[in-house]
Amino acid sequence: MGTNVTASRGPTGADLDVVVEQVAQDVAGLADQGAVATYIPALARVDPAHFALAVAPLDGPPAAVGDADTTFSIQSISKVFTLTLAMQRFAGDIWERMGREPSGDPFNSLVQLEYENGKPRNPFINAGAIVLADILRTCLDDPLSELVQLVSELCGEPVTVDGEVALSEAETGFRNRSLANLMTGFGNIHGDPQAVLDIYFAQCSIAMTPAQLARSLGYLANDGVDPRSGARVLSAEKARRVNALMLTCGTYDAAGEFAFRVGIPCKSGVGGGVVGIVPHHLSACAWSPRLDQTGNSVQGRAALEALIDRTGLSVF
Ligand code: DON
Repeated sequence: MGTNVTASRGPTGADLDVVVEQVAQDVAGLADQGAVATYIPALARVDPAHFALAVAPLDGPPAAVGDADTTFSIQSISKVFTLTLAMQRFAGDIWERMGREPSGDPFNSLVQLEYENGKPRNPFINAGAIVLADILRTCLDDPLSELVQLVSELCGEPVTVDGEVALSEAETGFRNRSLANLMTGFGNIHGDPQAVLDIYFAQCSIAMTPAQLARSLGYLANDGVDPRSGARVLSAEKARRVNALMLTCGTYDAAGEFAFRVGIPCKSGVGGGVVGIVPHHLSACAWSPRLDQTGNSVQGRAALEALIDRTGLSVF
């Protein structure tokens, strides 16, 4: 890792511009490590050479390097938004239907679900997100439109679902269908499992840029208030809990490694995006499509690690 500039805690403006450029250099040597996700064919067609880091500080202008304005498939990062929407709109108790513990298993594992009577460990593994989609169907007339509207408001620009990716997910989503059917058998999916999966596949197929993702998550760095519009998205307590779940469960069976190396709440997706939150300082998104064995972006994780190293902004 380079050592020429180490910014003081919480750099802004020109300092932050320098830091993101240096982070890009720090991780350039990892460009050929890992492999693009192929189990969803539409994702396999993405150019593996993309790289971006976008940072949205609470107290200054955004900084970015690389392909920060190129759209990509946000995949499991969408689970942060569906949890947020459910926390906003569901009057019942989400936690009767899923837990708040790391799974220690791959994100699409079926094994634990059988042992634990169809109750997912947390909202960020696929099973938990599928239950969240079911919950949203019970409290909203058109959950997908409401989700797209929420995300568009948060990033300040209209976002859309990539229909080709959604179709590709639906055609190859055998494990997700198994999860939904198993949980229906246990009584933890209340609606039509196919309709629930349609929401889940579509949410994963939302297309956003790294810059949009970084700024859309500002509310998690700002005690639940969108720092750009001033609108309250979640109570401070709920925002804190989303951050806690991201730290412990947001990167699946690599959550310990992320906490050890990066040291901030993170959420990843198999499109190669990783978002990170530094409470009271910034939200960030790194993107690089090549993944490690746990489904996390190799350069994405390294970029957030380098960002935190250089800024000293670990939560620990
Ligand atoms: O359901 C799936 O397998 C994908 N649509 C999303 C998985 C994902 O992004 C997990 N992340 N690392």
